[in-house]
Amino acid sequence: MPSTDSALVFHEWSKTYGPVMHLKVLGRSMIILDSYQTAVELLDKRGVTYSDRPKFTLYELLGWNPSLVFLQYGKQLNIHRQMHQSYLSRHKAEDFKPMQTQEARTLVQNLLDSTPDKYEKFKVGEAMPSFISEQLDQMEEGADEEDLKGAAATMFGAGEATTWSTLSIFILAMVLHPECQAQAQKEIDSVVGGARLPEFGDREDLPLVEGVLQETLRWNPGTPLGVPHRAMKDDVYQGMLIPKGALVFANIRGMSLDENVYSNPTSFNPERYFPKPAGKGEPKFSNVSFGFGRRFCFVRSPLGDFLTYYVHHQSMHWTVCRQQQPVDCHSIDLGNL
Ligand code: HEM
Repeated sequence: MPSTDSALVFHEWSKTYGPVMHLKVLGRSMIILDSYQTAVELLDKRGVTYSDRPKFTLYELLGWNPSLVFLQYGKQLNIHRQMHQSYLSRHKAEDFKPMQTQEARTLVQNLLDSTPDKYEKFKVGEAMPSFISEQLDQMEEGADEEDLKGAAATMFGAGEATTWSTLSIFILAMVLHPECQAQAQKEIDSVVGGARLPEFGDREDLPLVEGVLQETLRWNPGTPLGVPHRAMKDDVYQGMLIPKGALVFANIRGMSLDENVYSNPTSFNPERYFPKPAGKGEPKFSNVSFGFGRRFCFVRSPLGDFLTYYVHHQSMHWTVCRQQQPVDCHSIDLGNL
């Protein structure tokens, strides 16, 4: 087993051994899927076999039970997915937009002027409507709150670091590729006219910024090996036995570097997603970033794709304000912070 950069090492190995690899680690079978096609065929199409998770003893000892990410296939998993999904589907992406707009503007304000006293503005107020407040309202008298605690902790735990790391990667990409940033800035200016910040409604008119988002997800994926699935029974794929109990990893990092899909994959090139002949017509990476099968990340679902908007929106705001010209960021109204 590689001790560092396993996703990259697995991808190198796949060039010799192919996109489905079987490793035996301390007596346990590990399957690495290094191509989008094999992940779809096994984890998506044969989801009934690959929807379990292995036991994460360390996380259990750390008190991460019950957390949806680590739950094994069964009744409790259904309860937890239902809690998340019903919340996200009752509140369609539209409902989150005012809050996301506010948060994006807060981010811009913090980036512009990040002195500690600014944070004093976040005064403690009455509990805002939220996942927890809604679930509590629906909860029957005397019901056990452990599942709700676990579900809420999961929403934070699974969503916070992933969002933060994706935004950090975006900022890194912009710092390393100022020419992309300048082009994205130009595109935004041509749409908003330098007089206002971008809105969600502008998304369709910003194909390059959309490319920047997709490239941010692909160029350095925040979850290189996703979260392991577990084979619930013996399975045979293209003549290969995948034994019951095997850990199955979708190598998201490997897929991002697949030269059969992405030309010159280590380069940061938002235009690769443009249809031919302007671009290369390469597939968006958001189909890969959020995992596969019945354990896919909620933000991949049509009703829960708010995160994509979120990153996109924050990207737009940040891009506008990173530049000194032609917009004077301090002169733009960032809303009531
Ligand atoms: C850029 C941001 C994010 C990325 C790249 C990401 C990626 C992933 C991936 C790769 C998985 C594993 C899927 C699989 O097993 O095949 C996952 C699972 C999960 N994600 Fe995310 N995620 C992100 C943001 C979020 C957010 C904002 C939330 C919550 C609001 C969230 C909640 C979850 C949950 C609950 C699971 C576990 C699903 C299950 O085991 O059934 N994620 N995510």
